[in-house]
Order: sequence, then structure tokens, then C-alpha cells
Amino acid sequence: MKMDFSVEETVKKRQSVRSYLERPIPAGEKEQIQNYMAKLNNPFSVEVSFHLLENKPSSSGEKLGTYGVIKGASDFIGASVAPGELGLEALGYSFEQLILYLTSLGFGTCWLGGTFDRSGFAAAMKLKEGELFPAISPIGYPQEKRRMMDSMARFIAKSDQRLPWETMFFKGDFSHTLTQDEAGAYAFPLEMLRLAPSAANKQPWRVVQDGDSYHFYEMRSMKDNKLGIDIQRTDVGIGACHFHLAAQERDLSGQFVKLSEPKIQKPEQMCYLFSWKAV
Ligand SMILES: Cc1cc2nc3c(=O)[nH]c(=O)nc-3n(C[C@H](O)[C@H](O)[C@H](O)COP(=O)(O)O)c2cc1C
Repeated sequence: MKMDFSVEETVKKRQSVRSYLERPIPAGEKEQIQNYMAKLNNPFSVEVSFHLLENKPSSSGEKLGTYGVIKGASDFIGASVAPGELGLEALGYSFEQLILYLTSLGFGTCWLGGTFDRSGFAAAMKLKEGELFPAISPIGYPQEKRRMMDSMARFIAKSDQRLPWETMFFKGDFSHTLTQDEAGAYAFPLEMLRLAPSAANKQPWRVVQDGDSYHFYEMRSMKDNKLGIDIQRTDVGIGACHFHLAAQERDLSGQFVKLSEPKIQKPEQMCYLFSWKAV
């Protein structure tokens, strides 16, 4: 399905926003967002739950907190998924589609996988026992000028930079780079994937093209969090979303499938996740 917005423009426009105007989102627009959230799905056929939360003081006087990382936002979105194969990847995919949609409407967002009060949000979302809850995002109207905290976070993560193409896209195996010329029509989806956001801007996605298949790997560079969540699987789901929406925009047909591990020699920290099969 094609999006109602330009994928390239929206991918290039999106940036993490940590400073918001104290302006509430009108009820009509919230309803539009709720409707979009309710219709989201993903190519991994995993159900992801979304919750739109208002940052109202609770009966105990506590608010939904982000340790000062986010300022001014009165609304947040939390996402959760049941444990299982490709669950974290599916959550990354669906949440990023929602974030791109919100970006196209002019809202600011910021993926947060670490710097938020997890138990406060989990209670507000009424999480089911055992459900995985890797991330939230504020949603609101961006401040024109960033705060010092915002600029510092961007500086530390080198948020304006991305790794060069040749370090993430390969042909046949991990020792041969896939050039943009060799990628042909797929140079566009791969470039949109390259620009995706990721936790600490680690950009853990790697893709090996083999004929009509594009095998997606996670290059693990972070440990699981205290709850046993590997946030970098979510990152690869985010990247898959950019790749897929861009492919659909250019009428490149195919589908994501989980294959048995491709017989490709790989570095130790590389984990095979899924493949795109072009048809
Ligand atoms: C899954 C995920 C988790 C993230 N967690 C945090 C976080 O806890 N705190 C934070 O300030 N930024 C967080 N970020 C934002 C990244 O630092 C940011 O996406 C990256 O530096 C690239 O910058 P950009 O989003 O402006 O393109 C997260 C991003 C992703 C995708």
C-alpha cells in the first residue's frame, strides 16, 4: 500500500524532537491519530498495541516522566508486543510507520527506549503480564529552538550523521560491497533504510543482496536491557519500514519472509533476522 505522503521527503524531514511547545493537541486531531493507530499492521503479521497517553498528574501526583530529556510534551505514545519471533521487529516497523505519518502531519516525535520512567508508563498503559514494552515517543508541536539538553543528546549520538553505504550493504557475502549501480532500483529503498533512526544512532542493520533476495541482519553492538529486550531488533524493524514504504512507493513488489539462516559466512556479532524476496 502506498502512503499518502512522500516517503523520501518525510524520511528526510523527520528528526528526534525533544523540545515541545506547551500547546495541547486538539481532540479532532487526536481522534485522527487514534484511527490511524488502530489500522496499523506490519509484514510480520504480529499484533502490536499502541496507547495514546496524556501526561496528566495521576492521583498520587506523579506525571509520566522522561528524566528531563523531553520538555513541554503533554502527549505520549507507548507501544507493546507479546514476546515471540519477530515481535520487536514488528513493533519497530509499525511504530516507525506511525512516526512518519505524524511527521507528515507536522508533529514532532522522538523514539525513547531508555530515558523514560518505564514503570509509570507501564502502569498508565495497563500492560498485560509478560508483554514487551521497548519504547515510547512524545508527540506534539516542536519548539523552534532546541534546548541545550536536546543539542547535547544530538551531539553525543552524532545524530546528524549516518554510516556510509558501503559499510552496511553487501553483495553475496559480507566481504563484497553492493554498489548503488548494482542495487539498481533498490538503491532508493536501501538509501531510505540508511537514513532511519536507531537507538544511540548505532545503525545496526546490515543487508546482503543475493539474487532477488535481500537478507536483513542485526549487527549487535548493545547488550539487552534489564528486561531482556534487544532494542536493536526494534531498530532493524524501523529500517525495514523505511525500506518497505520506499519499495512500495516505487512499485517494487516483493515480501518479507523468515528463511532458514542463509549459508553466508558472517562476523560473530551478526544475527540473521529476515529477508526481502523481490518478485
Ligand atoms: C529504538 C530507539 C530508542 C531510542 N532511545 C532514545 C532514548 O532513550 N533517549 C534519547 O534521547 N534518544 C533516543 N533515541 C533517539 C536516537 O538517539 C536518534 O534517533 C538518533 O540519534 C538519530 O537522530 P534522529 O532521530 O534525529 O535522526 C532512540 C531511537 C531509537 C530508534
